[in-house]
Amino acid sequence: MPPLRPWPKTINGVLLRDPQDADIEVIASFRNLPEVNRWMIVTHQTLDELRRSWLAVASSQTDFSCVAEVDGELAGVGFLEVEDGAGQPGKPRGTDACIGYIVRPGYEGRGVGSAVARGLVEAAFVHLELRRVTAGCFADNFASVRILEKTGLRREQHGRGDSWHAELGWVDGYTYGALRDEWLAARAGSLAAGTGS
Ligand SMILES: CC(C)(COP(=O)(O)OP(=O)(O)OC[C@H]1O[C@@H](n2cnc3c(N)ncnc32)[C@H](O)[C@@H]1OP(=O)(O)O)[C@@H](O)C(=O)NCCC(=O)NCCS
Repeated sequence: MPPLRPWPKTINGVLLRDPQDADIEVIASFRNLPEVNRWMIVTHQTLDELRRSWLAVASSQTDFSCVAEVDGELAGVGFLEVEDGAGQPGKPRGTDACIGYIVRPGYEGRGVGSAVARGLVEAAFVHLELRRVTAGCFADNFASVRILEKTGLRREQHGRGDSWHAELGWVDGYTYGALRDEWLAARAGSLAAGTGS
């Protein structure tokens, strides 16, 4: 039995839900814009690629990506891919997740990216009960760095000149991560202190 999907879930007024057919054209309308791709690793996706990947999500046992809605409009997307951890043969499979997000131009700067990231991490740890969550970003993607730190992930790696940027050449990259137990404990602490939601 595949795990039940974590969506729908509402975080700070942002509805995270499973993707539908009608979303593909909307995602395609912004996915390849330069302002969206400035700090993305995959900088172009054809309509066919988008259709194939987003329509496969519903039946996937490893892809729990979602779309984000604000006031009934698609305002962004979140990526959650279940994967194996690193290590030697014999390790348990499908214990970890990698997350990512894109906010649709016009919706940035109002907490959508933060809500999506929080929803993804909650889905991974609380719903899917995964062991570890990671996310990578270019070091100069300041909004994304802030989002990951706010979401309770720790900077685990600062890769000096490890990431190729089409305009800037080799630049620094960060990897963020958290383990389920520590993330749940920190969340319980902030709820008890009245600083979390
Ligand atoms: C990065 C991105 C997801 C941010 O989404 P958003 O909805 O605008 O983000 P939010 O409004 O939730 O919050 C961003 C946080 O970063 C902060 N921030 C924004 N720009 C910043 C900057 N230049 N320097 C420092 N902090 C910055 C904001 O103040 C906010 O923090 P706060 O809540 O403490 O005030 C969005 O711009 C995007 O989709 N970019 C293109 C795709 C992309 O880069 N995805 C991530 C790949 S790793």
